[in-house]
Amino acid sequence: MSRVDLPRRSAGAITDEGREQVLKLVEAAAQEYLKQIDGRRVWVPNPEGLLERFEGALPEAGTGAERAIQKLIDDALPAATNSIGPRFFHFVVGGVTPAALAADWFTSLVDQMSYAWAGSPLASRLEQISIRWLLDLFALPARWGGVLTTGATTGNLVCLAGARQWWGEQEGIDIGEEGLLRQPPVLAGGYLHPSAYKALAILGVGRARIQKLTAGDTGATDLPALERALQALGGRPSILIATAGDPNAGGFDPIEPMAELARKHNAWLHVDGAFGLFAACAPDLAHLVRGADGARSVSVDLHKWMNVPYDSGAAFIHDLRYLARAFHHQADYLPSTDDPHPNFGFLVPEMSRRARAFPVWATLQAYGRQGIRALIEGSVALAGRLAAHVEAAPDLELLAPHQLNVACFRYHPPGLDDEARLDELNTRIHERVVDDGRVYFGATRYAGRVAFRPTLVNWRTRAEDIDLLVSVVREIGARLCAEHV
Ligand SMILES: Cc1ncc(COP(=O)(O)O)c(C=O)c1O
Repeated sequence: MSRVDLPRRSAGAITDEGREQVLKLVEAAAQEYLKQIDGRRVWVPNPEGLLERFEGALPEAGTGAERAIQKLIDDALPAATNSIGPRFFHFVVGGVTPAALAADWFTSLVDQMSYAWAGSPLASRLEQISIRWLLDLFALPARWGGVLTTGATTGNLVCLAGARQWWGEQEGIDIGEEGLLRQPPVLAGGYLHPSAYKALAILGVGRARIQKLTAGDTGATDLPALERALQALGGRPSILIATAGDPNAGGFDPIEPMAELARKHNAWLHVDGAFGLFAACAPDLAHLVRGADGARSVSVDLHKWMNVPYDSGAAFIHDLRYLARAFHHQADYLPSTDDPHPNFGFLVPEMSRRARAFPVWATLQAYGRQGIRALIEGSVALAGRLAAHVEAAPDLELLAPHQLNVACFRYHPPGLDDEARLDELNTRIHERVVDDGRVYFGATRYAGRVAFRPTLVNWRTRAEDIDLLVSVVREIGARLCAEHV
């Protein structure tokens, strides 16, 4: 056999040297960061300046793992938005629990390719168990199936791919095989989320073709109009989308009547429950999602209210075979589609997948149903505290009734009733709040008015964080008014 000369090892070559040291570095930095997280500014001032430290050309010879990781700790950590802390109320961003963080590290440690049983029986089984536990947690039928996703956008995409496949089969077309020969009618409640438009556009359903039935200017569903639109289809199949939890003010589409309409008029009801589905975990809130078990598919985010690190979500469906047909693919080197093992890569767009089950499983194992329920009830109680503060303050105005984990309000000092000036003032307050950095929340337009929409999902948030949010808004609002803005 001829001798093969191996290439000489170059500087920065990948070796196991320094492994112990880099893991210790990260562990020590993590402990320090987490110790300080409650007191850190939420938004880092001048992020561009901090990020300049990363400029430069691709290194020819690498620095080695230890120096690279030390640079991340020294230069990246100060630039990170402290969104895992207790006062980040923008978007709907969860924090990270100790169990989920450790399990997420574990995910990278074993780095399982979670396409099929043949790649990782461990990841496949834990995903199967996690889905079963989640169905139980959300009071969805145990006979349903599901799959983990990167979030609710892909959850919506996966579920709507199943819905599209079903619709095609009702119309005598196998869309997975033949393509989208015609457009399915898609109807939706008033809180339809932008991610659903995105998912439908990917699936070939033009955004302009979606019929959203809204009454009034806050997003509520026009149920009679929805019924008329379904009736007009004369029993032809359609796709209907309900949203549980609107990011503006926590509104819910009327899921139970929509499920009833779907049954009556041959529609596939999909429920986007990105964060609102968690209402099912608390007995006093469960009425908000009543009827979700009568849908055919439901999506949820786990990186939001379950506080699993990004990215994590799930798609649940009454019959997995629609997903298997929508995402069907085959090659001689792949497991057969008849393989009886759980092969989750058969049910989603990706083949190679991160084993997202580890932090999901660990969260449910560590905190259980009661822990999740306490988290949900705690966030809702804190949002109630915020709404009560707003109602009691003479210079704040609650814009939407509080029912879940969002309080939608604005600064409204007595005597200032010009809507354009109020919009301008609230826009300026929001900019200053962000710069101030003590708290961080998003702004929106609600019923045409510029409004704040702090959303509570982080397990670390306490009553004092809410009280601080209120005092920061009032302090900055009063200062801007004194400056005659
Ligand atoms: C109702 C709803 N659906 C879908 C999404 C999109 O979720 P993700 O960002 O996890 O893709 C969100 C995000 O806020 C949401 O609130």
